[in-house]
Amino acid sequence: MIILGIETSCDDTCAAVVSKEKGKISSVSGESFSQIEIHKKWGGVYPSLAKREHQGKLVTVTEAALKKSNLLQEGKGCLCKKTSQILSHEPLLLKETNKFLSKYKKPEIDAIAVTIGPGLDPCLWVGVNFARVLSCAYNIPLIPVNHIKAHALSYLLEEKHVDFPAVVLIASGGHTELALMRSVTDFELLGETRDDAAGECFDKSARIIGLPYPGGPAIATEATQFSISNTQFSIKLPRPMINTNDYDFSFSGLKTAVLYNFRSQEEKTKKDKQYIIQMAKEVEEAITDVLVKKLKKAADDYNAKTVILGGGVTANKRLREKVNNNIIDKKIIIPSILLSTDNAEMIAAAGIVIGKNVNYEELKADPNLKIYEN
Ligand code: KG4
Ligand code: ZN
Repeated sequence: MIILGIETSCDDTCAAVVSKEKGKISSVSGESFSQIEIHKKWGGVYPSLAKREHQGKLVTVTEAALKKSNLLQEGKGCLCKKTSQILSHEPLLLKETNKFLSKYKKPEIDAIAVTIGPGLDPCLWVGVNFARVLSCAYNIPLIPVNHIKAHALSYLLEEKHVDFPAVVLIASGGHTELALMRSVTDFELLGETRDDAAGECFDKSARIIGLPYPGGPAIATEATQFSISNTQFSIKLPRPMINTNDYDFSFSGLKTAVLYNFRSQEEKTKKDKQYIIQMAKEVEEAITDVLVKKLKKAADDYNAKTVILGGGVTANKRLREKVNNNIIDKKIIIPSILLSTDNAEMIAAAGIVIGKNVNYEELKADPNLKIYEN
């Protein structure tokens, strides 16, 4: 079985080919285009700009992924009579899609899996509508995929074995959620952020102290330069909700504390390398302390056999180190860095295990999709 995965929920345009043979799910090829350079000057993702970029790049990444898998051959093209209607809000993509469909024969793929949510509404629709057209043109099934579930399931591509029940922490730029997983398809939401996501807190804190977007990797890089002998600023940030008897999070107060601390400093200090390093270290420690404490509590309370991490923030080395040091009686599954951040391989893999397909005419994006839905 060969599945084409498509992901456009935020600022990465991704396509991948994933296969399932003799029960083994593996990536055949994956291509993505990151919009980081485009959004850098805004300090965050600008939805209308992101939509335009997805439209311009989606055919290119899909073509490249299929070519790498030797699935594309020039010849008599395919047609979907509804292409213009389906892509009426994506004129840039319409042009590219028509060119693509008329140039190549139908590739030997069995289905298309696409992210339908959660994510940025205009961005999600680009992927959804493109996948609808391909499903119509190739007359193959279309599988809607929940982006958060896909993060939780990315381990499927690395042949890792999960003993259920598992507790999964998904921490990204848009989400911070803890869920109980009873099987690959049974998810129960235990808690989530009440305001900002962990990644958003990294990004906004970085912006306040003058570090580039995305803030997570920028803060992590500064934090590695921290040395205990150089702590003249004694910065102490709050760990919001760390001891509450639930599985929820709140990160907006932490970001505000960063802002107040920064504003209270003299202009000279604001540019002081040691101040930036110390603040970055403290932001990283505060966010990871809360994530690990709540993850451990959920895993203990629900007698989880396995703990799974997913989402861009879980690429953070300090978080990985703390999870490994603090959760010692459970199996820990952390995807490789490339699979932690947004990618289409995880969408295709999730599509394989979810399997439920829908008619291309009915598929819709859902920016607020919850982990237990779809
Ligand atoms: O999952 P992802 O690639 O996209 C979303 O679905 O949001 O996550 C992106 C988020 C950004 O907020 C970014 O700053 C954060 O993940 N991130 C990190 C690291 N790498 C990416 N945060 C902390 N440490 C990192 N190494
Ligand atoms: Zn994500």
